This record gives sequence, C-alpha cells and structure tokens, in this order.
Amino acid sequence: MEHLPIFLTVKGKTIVVDGGGTVAVRRVERALSAGANVISCDPTPEEELQALIDRNPNALTSFKRPAQREDVKNATVVYGASEDNVRDQRLRAWSDEFKVLCNVADEPDICDFITPSIVDRSPVVVAISTGGAAPVVARTLRARIETMLLPSFGQLTEFVGGFRQAIANKISTGRERRHFWERMIDGPAGDFFLSGEKDKASNRIESDLAAIGRDDAPPMGEVYLVGAGPGDPDLLTFKALRLMQRADVVLYDRLIGDEILSLVRRDAERIFVGKLPQKHTMGQDDISQLMAKLAKEGNRVMRLKGGDPFTFGRGGEEIEVLANAGVPFRVVPGITAAAGCSAYAGIPLTHRDYAQSCVFVTAHGKNGILDLDWDVLLRPSQTVAIYMGTSNLDKLVDGFVTRGVSEMTDIAIIENGTRANQRVVTGTLYNIVNLSIEADIKGPSIIMIGGVVTLHQLLEPAKAASSETTFEMSISANKSTEEVR
Ligand SMILES: C[S@@+](CC[C@H](N)C(=O)[O-])C[C@H]1O[C@@H](n2cnc3c(N)ncnc32)[C@H](O)[C@@H]1O
Repeated sequence: MEHLPIFLTVKGKTIVVDGGGTVAVRRVERALSAGANVISCDPTPEEELQALIDRNPNALTSFKRPAQREDVKNATVVYGASEDNVRDQRLRAWSDEFKVLCNVADEPDICDFITPSIVDRSPVVVAISTGGAAPVVARTLRARIETMLLPSFGQLTEFVGGFRQAIANKISTGRERRHFWERMIDGPAGDFFLSGEKDKASNRIESDLAAIGRDDAPPMGEVYLVGAGPGDPDLLTFKALRLMQRADVVLYDRLIGDEILSLVRRDAERIFVGKLPQKHTMGQDDISQLMAKLAKEGNRVMRLKGGDPFTFGRGGEEIEVLANAGVPFRVVPGITAAAGCSAYAGIPLTHRDYAQSCVFVTAHGKNGILDLDWDVLLRPSQTVAIYMGTSNLDKLVDGFVTRGVSEMTDIAIIENGTRANQRVVTGTLYNIVNLSIEADIKGPSIIMIGGVVTLHQLLEPAKAASSETTFEMSISANKSTEEVR
C-alpha cells in the first residue's frame, strides 16, 4: 500500500482551493460537504464556480486573485487546481513552509495525498484509490459499489444508529451485539426501512430486542424465493443480488448457471435440487419441506429459480407449503425467459404492425401429450411464446397447421437466451422441425410464433452487448493525483 488511508476532520477548518475551473469546483464542493470553511482563489472563476460561491456566502470566501502566502498560512489543506505551473509551485512552497497538506491536480510528484473516488451515502462514505495508477479502475469500482449501496442506505445507517443505546443496554457481549446489528441491517427491519416502512422497521427492532433472552423465542429464519432471470447475470435485480449476499443456504436448479451462482455469498451452503426434464433430482414437495425445515432451524434460505419464480416456475406451490408451515418468505421477481429472449434476439413481443397481444404458454404436457387452449393461441395479430416446447415441436406445428394456420407463418426458436451461447433459429411452420433437428437444439429454449419474428434480422443486438460489463479497462501510464474528477 503506497498511501495511508485516512478520513480527515475538517469541520470549521480552512481549505484553500486555487483555481477557477471544473477541478476547482469539485474540490470546493467536497470540502464544503465535509463542513470546511473554503477559500476559493481565482481571478476569473468560471460560471459553475461562481454559482457555487453565490450559493454559499457563509462557508465560502472568494478572492478574485490567485492564492497568496497568507491564505495558506492558516489552512489545513490546500488544493492546486489552476493548471498553472507557477501558481502550483508557489502553493507547494508555502505548504512546506507552514506544514499544510497539499494536493495539486495531475502533479503527483508534488502532492502530499491523492483524492479518492468516493461513494457518498453519508454517514457511510466509501473511498476507493488505486494509488493514482488507474483512475478508470476506481471509477468502474465506484459504479459497482453505487449499485450495491442504495441511496437510502445512509438514512438506514442513521436510523439503526438510533437504537445503539437500547441494544447496548440489552445485549452485553460484543459478539451477540454484532450478530444483532447484522440481523437488523441485513434482515427484515432493514428491508422494511429501505422499502419506506419505517414504523414496521422500528416495531421489528423493538420486538426482536424484547425477545432476547426469552426461552419461547424460536430462532425462525426466512425464505427468499428469487427469480434469477434467464441466464445473463446482468439481468439480476439489485434485490436478488442483495439477498444472494445474505442467504445462508441456497437451493438452485439446472437453469442457474455458474456465473450467477458465483455471486452467492461465498460461505453459503449450496444445494442442487435438480430438475432436469423428466428427471427431477428432488421432488417438488421435498424441496418445499426442506426449505421450511432449514428456515425453522434459523437459516436464511434462498430458493433461486431461473427466470421469474411465478412464471411456469411452480413458485406458488413452493410458498404455499411455507405459508401453511408459518415460515416467513419473500418473493423477488425475475426477468422471465420470454422477455429476456425477446430483447436479446431482437424479436419484440408486441409491435404495432405485427402483434397487439402476446401469450405465454407451456407446452410441457403430461406424458408428452399437448394440452393447450388452441382458441387462445390462434388469435390474429398475436405473438405466441412457448416455454418447454422443443420436445413437442412437431406436435405444436401440427396443431397450428391442422387448425388452419398458414405453413408460411414465421417461427423462431431461441436457445440459451441471453447467455453467451444463445442461438436463434428462424423459419416457418413448414420447415422449423427440420431446422431444429439440424441445429441440434438441446438447451432451454423459447419458441416464438408470429409476424414479429421477421424483425429478428434487423433488430438482433450486436453480440458484444453482454461484454459491456466485462472488466476491461485501459491502465493509464501516467499516475494521477485523483481517482475521479
Ligand atoms: C420450468 S420453466 C421455467 C421458466 C422460468 N420460471 C421463467 O420465468 O423463465 C423452464 C423453461 O423456461 C424456458 N427457459 C428458461 N431459461 C431460458 C433461456 N435462457 N433461454 C430460453 N428459454 C429458457 C425454457 O422453455 C425452459 O424449458
């Protein structure tokens, strides 16, 4: 580590910012938000800085000239942001004379410290530094951390801080206190608060505190029934990701890929509960009973399901068992396969010129026998999205054609939709069975039927789309004194 990370107390102290442009504005803003008295020095401050000066007549003093020796004398920190070498060198010399911390933008050799990239969820502040080697890395990390720390996280911190004394009075050992804090922030109380239900959050903390030490308080965990989307990890919701980091045990099946599973808390127990077509590793009822049992033992149990748990996912059946057993649960929706495939294959589900409605059906009939409501499927100007249909493709095609649908009707099969190995096979009802045999479709697939399929060629997104998130970055050769401007 090349630098010592510290958070400096500057409330009521003087910070000098020499310069009038954008860098100076950022320095002034940050110094003001930390409660410093700021002296801004520049003969011609730009509009943004002038507006800042006008808005802060008390904490911000503006001198319409470069910084002078006397300004630095009583300062705690000085920033050079003028991009003028003579001004920077003078500032450095005065800082040495008066032992003041000095930072000059883009001049690492004359800096006492670098300015980190920050995520501000006050009172929580995360500072990221790459030692000035690669500010772009810090920026990328900051974006990731920002998505993890909801804007309301700061308010949550203040809110739970209000219970500090009550917790200290009730729980004497440090370890138990820490567990209680973790449960409070990461558990139902934190969730209530973040979803705007402050009263419920308070009640929950008070009842949890009251239950401490009582023998009749069972260690009840809870179950999260979470939709993981069709495969691309970027399609997970923030909530899914948050709960994945919290779960003690995760029950997952075949549709959950390694990339998504790797985002689960590292020390969480993972239980594969199977579900291959026609070959269930664990019966549906066994899965539900196992979840109830684990939750009753005090675990935070996640049932991670492909797509959306309430769309052909039997999620309803699973939580019925939990509801009957008195186990608390939460359901987090996910992007269902038809929606994901539609976007990644460039086949809109509706389009004013082709389809005014769309239906989602499953062709997974018992014993291979199709049991579909054909009247609903045969409506004009409609897209039909069929789940679990490839093993019955010939019967499906037959069903449409024998009921009078033109053999020239467009149809697409999207295999492994949204994943790196996505394939799209397009054809007509006349030739799709042969095309799918030729393509040797084996992975999970959605079948789409209707005029919208013709848009695929035009609208299919470039393959590079999912590499947006790859951690590619150019490392700048020159060291910088700041992580972010
Ligand atoms: C048991 S259903 C689960 C559906 C899931 N709950 C959802 O909302 O997408 C499994 C079927 O979903 C479809 N499916 C799931 N993931 C898919 C993917 N990545 N690409 C294409 N189809 C997928 C396939 O039809 C597969 O046979």
